[in-house]
Amino acid sequence: MEKMELTKKEFTLFKEYIYEHIGISLSEQKIYLVQARLAKRVKHLGLTDFSAYYHTLVNDASGKEFEYLCSLISTNVTSFFRESKQWDFWKTHLSTMIAGKNNRLRIWSAACSTGEEPYSIAMFLDENLPSSAHFDIKILATDVSPRVLKEASEGVYGPKAIANLSQNYLSRYF
Ligand SMILES: C[S@@+](CC[C@H](N)C(=O)[O-])C[C@H]1O[C@@H](n2cnc3c(N)ncnc32)[C@H](O)[C@@H]1O
Repeated sequence: MEKMELTKKEFTLFKEYIYEHIGISLSEQKIYLVQARLAKRVKHLGLTDFSAYYHTLVNDASGKEFEYLCSLISTNVTSFFRESKQWDFWKTHLSTMIAGKNNRLRIWSAACSTGEEPYSIAMFLDENLPSSAHFDIKILATDVSPRVLKEASEGVYGPKAIANLSQNYLSRYF
């Protein structure tokens, strides 16, 4: 099957739409990435080109196509306890962060991907908060991609995802 080409004009349309509606800023170099990610969807819908897909997207009052776009365009790399420096920071500053909070903690994992980040936060707090049971803790996890949010709420992780977790964490929390 012939490769579908995303023209610069079409790329600009998607780039502006994505920035305005999702908040993701795409540089000009991302044209091939956008082309590769959207091509499958365009073909799946039986459309002939990206302009037709753009038309479908902006005219879809149900919002379903927008949800698809969010899942297609976002990059969802994550892992449990990713970025060790952040956890070192938490360890050092946890006592200052909770001081004067009346044991009430509200945490927002604003781009949680498949959930490893909010679950890591939960495990971290359980391990590191002095008598964590006395805290009123709520962790809000959100993401622009409905696909990864579904995985996050299912909370099912395979061998690859848990490969770097210690036996202590695995037996206590999984
Ligand atoms: C690279 S992942 C990082 C996941 C996690 N925070 C971590 O550090 O392991 C980035 C996530 O941000 C999400 N994202 C991108 N733009 C977003 C927005 N405007 N609002 C909410 N989530 C967004 C993507 O869908 C993706 O799942």
